[in-house]
Amino acid sequence: MHISLIGLPGCGKSTVGRLLARRLGLGFTDSDQVIEQRIGCSIRLFFEQQGEDAFRDMEEAVLDELTAGTTPAVLSTGGGAVLRPANRLHLHNRSWVVYLHALPEDISRRLRHDMTRPLLQVEDPLQRLCELYAQRNPLYRETAHYVVETRRPTVAGLVNMLAMQLELAGMPASQAAAVLRR
Ligand code: S3P
Repeated sequence: MHISLIGLPGCGKSTVGRLLARRLGLGFTDSDQVIEQRIGCSIRLFFEQQGEDAFRDMEEAVLDELTAGTTPAVLSTGGGAVLRPANRLHLHNRSWVVYLHALPEDISRRLRHDMTRPLLQVEDPLQRLCELYAQRNPLYRETAHYVVETRRPTVAGLVNMLAMQLELAGMPASQAAAVLRR
């Protein structure tokens, strides 16, 4: 069983995912990194040259592959991973899905100097984030098994909380890797 992290761009999926994987003794995969290796360029350039649909096709194929993998791992996904029904189904059925909930205002502050995210290269990124939030928040909630608030806790605090949650689900952090492999 994998652990998948979902949420808006900039909510901390990769940072939390990497630390959680280390804590649980599991591998870590970032689906956007796998996509970039496959397309041979940055996601931003791919968006510009091939368009969003081509990116979503690639994303769907990669998520299907990664969630079907037999070695349990922590998987961090792109913010739009929940847009396609097939992705929502694969993530929900094949992994323990955590939604890192963050508000547009907080993300916009964190990402104000970011140039890598194609969807946020607009005049008013906050307005864009509000639209993404309105569209996706219900989809993240529908896909997740567990929702965690990212506003107050530090990254270490979030990782502790998730490890504890795994424990509550009968998976002590120290044994989670072994248990998840069953
Ligand atoms: C996207 C988010 C990005 C990346 C792509 C599309 C989105 O990932 O997959 O630019 O639709 O929100 P992050 O959530 O890691 O920024």
